[in-house]
Parts: sequence; C-alpha cells; structure tokens
Amino acid sequence: MSPFLLTRTLPEDATDAALRADVLHGLTRTPKTLPPKWFYDAHGSELFDRITDLPEYYPTRAEREILIARAPEIAATTGARTLVELGSGSSEKTRHLLDALPGLHTYVPVDVSESALTQAGQALIAEHPGLGVHALIADFTGGLALPGTPGPRLVAFLGGTIGNLLPAERATFLASVRALLSPGDTLLLGTDLVKDESVLVAAYDDAAGVTAEFNKNVLHVVNRELGADFDPGAFAHVALWDARHEWIEMRLRSLTEQTVKIPALDLAVDFADGEELRTEISAKFREEGVRRELAAAGLDLAHWWTDREGRFALSLSVAR
Ligand code: SAH
Ligand code: AVI
Repeated sequence: MSPFLLTRTLPEDATDAALRADVLHGLTRTPKTLPPKWFYDAHGSELFDRITDLPEYYPTRAEREILIARAPEIAATTGARTLVELGSGSSEKTRHLLDALPGLHTYVPVDVSESALTQAGQALIAEHPGLGVHALIADFTGGLALPGTPGPRLVAFLGGTIGNLLPAERATFLASVRALLSPGDTLLLGTDLVKDESVLVAAYDDAAGVTAEFNKNVLHVVNRELGADFDPGAFAHVALWDARHEWIEMRLRSLTEQTVKIPALDLAVDFADGEELRTEISAKFREEGVRRELAAAGLDLAHWWTDREGRFALSLSVAR
C-alpha cells in the first residue's frame, strides 16, 4: 500500500446537493438552523485550529493532557492495528496515540474537510515512515465504508465533537460506529463535561473574537457555494448555555430586518430584527449519561479518564 491515500467517498456534486438540502431545510423552518459541518471549509478549519489555542478554549488542552497520560494504557488495552479517527481535523492530538501504538498498521483519518486531511496526512507520513495513512473525505454520520485493514480496530472520536450532534443523532451515530466494530474492538470518545456556566460561555465567546469569525464563516460558505448575499456584518455572534439540555448553543442574531437572496435555491429568506439562526449545539456530558448512551449502542464503558481539573473526559469502551 502507498503510504498516503486520499479517498473521496463524497462526490463533489453530492456535497453540493447536501448543502443545498440543509440550507433549504434549515432556513425555511422556524427557528432557523444550519448544521455545523458546513463551518469547515479550508478557512473554517484554520479558524478552528486557532480556537484550539485560545486561552478560553480549554477542551483541546484538557484532552491532550489525558491522551499524553493514558496513551500507553490505551495502546495496551486496545492492541489496535487500525486506528480510525472521525472528524480528525489537524490530527494534532492523535500524534500521541500514534506514537504509543507500535503495532499500528493503518491510520484512517475521516473528515469532510479535504484541506485538513491533506495537510495532516502529509505531515503524518513524514513523521511516521512505514505507517499506512488512508484518509477518507466522508461524512461520519453517513454510513462509512472503511478500508479492509487488519484488526483490532480502534475508532477515535476526539475533541468533544459528539456534542455537536443532537441526542437522537448521537444514538444513531453511536449505533453506526458499533456497526464498524467487531466484538472486542474499541471506541475512544472525547466528551466535554458539564461545568460552571461562565467557563463554558467564555470558551464559545472568546475575547479575541475568533469564535465569532468561525460562527460567521458558515455565511461565507453559503455565499460562495450557493451565490447567496449574506452580509456577515449584519449578524452578531451569540453563545449561550442551555441549562435544561446541558448544551452550549451558538447562534447568529440578525442585527436588522433583512432579506437574504440565495440564487442557487431560487430562495429569498426574511430575517426579523433580532431573529436568531442556530448554527451549532455543543453538548456537555456527565459520566452516567455517556455510559448509558454507549451501552444503548452495544458499547461497554471500560475506562473513564479526566484531566486533573475534571473539565473533560476520555472514555474507552468495548464492543459487545
Ligand atoms: N478532532 C479534532 C478536530 C475537531 S473539529 C480535534 O479534536 O481537535 C471537528 C472536525 O470534524 C472538523 O475537522 C470538521 O471538518 C469535522 N466534521 C464536522 N462534521 C463532520 C461530519 N459530519 N463528517 C465528517 N467530518 C466532520
Ligand atoms: C468541534 N467541536 C467539538 C467544537 C466544540 O467545541 O463544540 C466546535 C467549536 N465551536 C465553537 N468553538 C469550537
């Protein structure tokens, strides 16, 4: 096998059709919504990487701390020969796992962002000669077909990205992950934890305004891909804690009454002054809830590790 393979499982016209369907559905309902996966064009992926370095955005640092401490245990427990990573982005933290897994045959990063996969893949093959890297441009919610590489298989889903799915979507997603595994294979899952509201809100509304720019990037994506005329300056970034659902919600609030034209959909969308468009939820978790959701999907929680400050958890679960 060549050291770096990039496979597009999403033809570009299917991506375009999916964006059209999501925008049409999301902007013609009340309240208006857009799915977070459309943040991540090349610029959005870059903005996310900047977020991970912000002083207020603790999840990346907390998860890295756990990975560094637990990588040898993860390697010993899983004996993984294939590591599949969903929503791999820059694969930056994954290096700690790759370094700790001596018997690893293939790393399969999966992401919708081609730019992130290409950059990460090239860096990884330079750093890990001999490791096969088979990157997949794919939607991890859409029935993945994985390469037939040797087991045991470890699926990693880091960063707390599972929190960007709604509860019903999470159940379907976890069942689909279980379907990728044989009994004894493992899932390494990163989950951000419920904590003080002020800490959570600051993480999604940083002083430098990088998260605001990331949030508005979805409007640039819709402008570029569908010829829309969103004025990102006419929307304000909103991050709030929903205590009932235990999730952060990111929204874009219209600063005026306005109509946005989306020629590719032959659509005009009216926004009232102050109307909000939901762009992301980021659910925060507790151990019992994670255990229950995993068990419902046929995955038994074997380890629960947190950072020293108890802000973030990594769990390792085993397919029944
Ligand atoms: N795992 C990395 C990146 C998290 S950012 C970390 O922990 O830092 C979320 C990543 O998931 C982005 O790279 C984004 O492009 C990807 N992503 C979001 N929704 C996706 C989907 N539905 N299918 C595949 N990748 C997705
Ligand atoms: C990718 N995901 C886990 C991030 C989060 O924290 O929910 C995305 C993000 N949104 C705003 N800041 C970061």
